[in-house]
Amino acid sequence: MRRSLKLLGVLIALSGITIQPALTQAQTSPDLVNPAVPYVPTPVEVVMGMLELAQVGKNDIVYDLGSGDGRLVITAAQKFGAKRGVGVEINPGLVNQSNANARREGVSDRVRFVQQDLFQTDFSEASVVTLYLLPRINLQLRPKLISELKPGSRVVSHAFAMGDWQPDQRVTVRDRTAYLWIIPASVEGTWTGTLSSPSGQSIPYTLQMKQSFQNARATAEVAGTSISLPQIKLTGDRLTFEHRQKLKGEDVRVRVNAQVVQNTLTGTAEVLNGTSTQTFTLNAKRT
Ligand SMILES: C[S@@+](CC[C@H](N)C(=O)[O-])C[C@H]1O[C@@H](n2cnc3c(N)ncnc32)[C@H](O)[C@@H]1O
Repeated sequence: MRRSLKLLGVLIALSGITIQPALTQAQTSPDLVNPAVPYVPTPVEVVMGMLELAQVGKNDIVYDLGSGDGRLVITAAQKFGAKRGVGVEINPGLVNQSNANARREGVSDRVRFVQQDLFQTDFSEASVVTLYLLPRINLQLRPKLISELKPGSRVVSHAFAMGDWQPDQRVTVRDRTAYLWIIPASVEGTWTGTLSSPSGQSIPYTLQMKQSFQNARATAEVAGTSISLPQIKLTGDRLTFEHRQKLKGEDVRVRVNAQVVQNTLTGTAEVLNGTSTQTFTLNAKRT
């Protein structure tokens, strides 16, 4: 009786957005008979909505963690032209069904299904990860997603969010919410470098950056002036912000657009003074 009540709570939670207290008792160890998340398929329109939200295309490698009958990765390959798809599923019966579905849909050369615990899976090659799990499982998976996926990779979850990691976007399809997160690059730390003008002038530039997921704030030191940057937006490895400062006695607006690759920051700083724009090259290293 207790077990069926618990299962009912989990099924209600999976069917919509309501989070039942029974979910807090969900198991996380892989269990074929009674897995932490039961099999409830995502409706076809929601599958389409999730893959559209992730903007899946021909260069993408799509992983569905807890892949059920394989519909997410099969649709990604068949309807969105994804390069490859991998379904990770604990239940061997569903893996067999997924392989049969892939053959029937003519995409078995581009998709594969592995019978495996998603927590033990290396999904670092994925550019898109899809989920229909549970709130607690999403939270447990969150550090692995952030540390293993490359900046710019997309994570889409049907129905369940990621705690205090705010989604970059969300859509509602047939009363279901799908959430999108873009994996942010790591930017926390001190970045030291220069701004170089077109005429070759070099200005010392330092950024002290604090990061919370895709949001960052910083203090910039530019030619001896300290500037507070409370809102820096990170989209994958792209960092953009704007600030005002005095330059040679003149009020200017500075618009920075840079790319982070591990410990290197490169980009441009456009200095707009109302009548003209001067573009500086920004180069900095994390020290
Ligand atoms: C709610 S269903 C979602 C199925 C599919 N992703 C979809 O959206 O249609 C969750 C799936 O995760 C699988 N699952 C649960 N725990 C798992 C684990 N630890 N590793 C891999 N798969 C798991 C279940 O067997 C089930 O098929």
